[in-house]
Amino acid sequence: MSMAEATAKSPAKRDTFDSRLVFLMAAIGSAVGLGNIWRFPYVAYENGGGAFLIPYLVALLTAGIPILWFDFTIGHRWRASAPLAFRRLSGNGEVIGWFKVGVSFFIAVYYAAIVAWAAIYTVKAFTKAWGDDPETHLFNDFLQMDGTSTFSGNYVLPILFMMIGVWLFSIVVLALDVNSGIGKLTVVFVPVLVVLFTVLVVRSLFLEGSTEGLNAFFTPNWEALKDSSVWIAAYGQIFFSLSVGFGIMITYASYLKPRTNLANTGLVTAFANSSFEVLAGIGVFATLGYMAHAAGVGVDEVATSGIGLAFVAFPTIINNMPFGEVFGVLFFLTLFLAGVTSLISIMEVVFSAINDKLGWGRAKTAIIIGSIMGILSTVLFASTSGLVALDIMDKWTNNLGIVFCAVVALVTVGWITGRRNEVTQHLNAVSSVRVGGLYQLCAFIATPLILIYFLYEEVSTLLTEGYGDYATSQLGIYGWAVVAFIIVNAVVWTFIPFKNQTVLTGVPGSDYGVPSKGRPKGEPNPLAQATATESTPASERI
Ligand code: PHE
Repeated sequence: MSMAEATAKSPAKRDTFDSRLVFLMAAIGSAVGLGNIWRFPYVAYENGGGAFLIPYLVALLTAGIPILWFDFTIGHRWRASAPLAFRRLSGNGEVIGWFKVGVSFFIAVYYAAIVAWAAIYTVKAFTKAWGDDPETHLFNDFLQMDGTSTFSGNYVLPILFMMIGVWLFSIVVLALDVNSGIGKLTVVFVPVLVVLFTVLVVRSLFLEGSTEGLNAFFTPNWEALKDSSVWIAAYGQIFFSLSVGFGIMITYASYLKPRTNLANTGLVTAFANSSFEVLAGIGVFATLGYMAHAAGVGVDEVATSGIGLAFVAFPTIINNMPFGEVFGVLFFLTLFLAGVTSLISIMEVVFSAINDKLGWGRAKTAIIIGSIMGILSTVLFASTSGLVALDIMDKWTNNLGIVFCAVVALVTVGWITGRRNEVTQHLNAVSSVRVGGLYQLCAFIATPLILIYFLYEEVSTLLTEGYGDYATSQLGIYGWAVVAFIIVNAVVWTFIPFKNQTVLTGVPGSDYGVPSKGRPKGEPNPLAQATATESTPASERI
């Protein structure tokens, strides 16, 4: 390799996705997860049914898409994992990136357990191994739930082994370069997921009683629109479901080629995710309609979400349904596929950040950090006290962690560093649509205000009422201590220097804030790359 080539190659040190399709599949794979399948249907049903679609659409257009564009732009413009991107954006900003990494770390460790349960239930579905009483089976036989000890130290072997399998699989995928790992996996899994899920939904429509379920789901309760908690639920759902605020979309967008139509890609991701969500609502409620019809009760008596829906209600329905095994295998397999593609996206937030910081390379980072996470994950969640830990950690990391990270990121970029115009300009420079004042209003004023209100409400409820019937020690360890750890850990990481990375920051408008003549020779000039048109080879444009 000649010197010139070596210099020309140095900006490309960061992996890039081969095509926009690969990126799209990865982004959709991350967005479409348990949030779509087991969360959305119930949230919509509880918060006004058909009428919920209005706050949902408003939240999608005013917060979901703007923040998705924001995340894409941060990752693409500063071409780095969350901590390095924020470091380049503003000297003290790095800590924001580490908050996101910390939150992602904990979400990944518990999410892997759910993915493992889905895998085990896929196998169980072949023989309906949960027997006649799926609820007792789930809590007593399968999870062997211990609701009272803070940490039981007793292990459930099938869960332990399957979790080890899930971790090994994800580590291998992420140790490979982004195209061979994340790319190949999502390009196969996401289309398979969509096809299988569509088959499942079509089947559910032909079940007796499905229309009762659909009526219950879609009947609008217009009164609900007057209730602020319904609007908050819509924003919460959009945030979780689109994987925004986690650092995932920042990380994935950092692997995009310089000229990528960000706005357009964001729209496709957002609408694909929402379509899947509505499809899931239809499938789940058609199936619940069948259950209610068979039991001669109202749909409201059988409607639930989360673990109860997937691991109790669905097995019950599968038991009664003709060829229930096929339906069951399809259902749990889709849950597994949706879960794996989300799990690897959130693990990548952690791995890419540590790789940027320590310069270990993908494989070494995946093996070392993946093993640490995998060990913590199995120790905590394959234990009989795992369900309690999971429930609490989920509540704290999502409702406090992500919301906090999102607010801090938006306020810092928009107001503290004042680089909101630069973010908007970058988005416009690479996209086919033009956004301006309205975008900034949504991203930097309206959404932060809504999220601050949300955060205030959540913190005060958690402080005054606690959560569920859990003991203070359980909430203290899996909730508050986790949050405290995330904060301290984030600060500590900022003291370690980045290896082999340009981190210069400062004056807005110049590359990484550094006047170009001060930029070290051969360093990438991201803005120049992003705005280059003629000089960008066609192969580089996607
Ligand atoms: N969007 C995901 C979902 O709907 C959220 C998520 C992403 C959760 C990554 C965990 C990990 O489930």
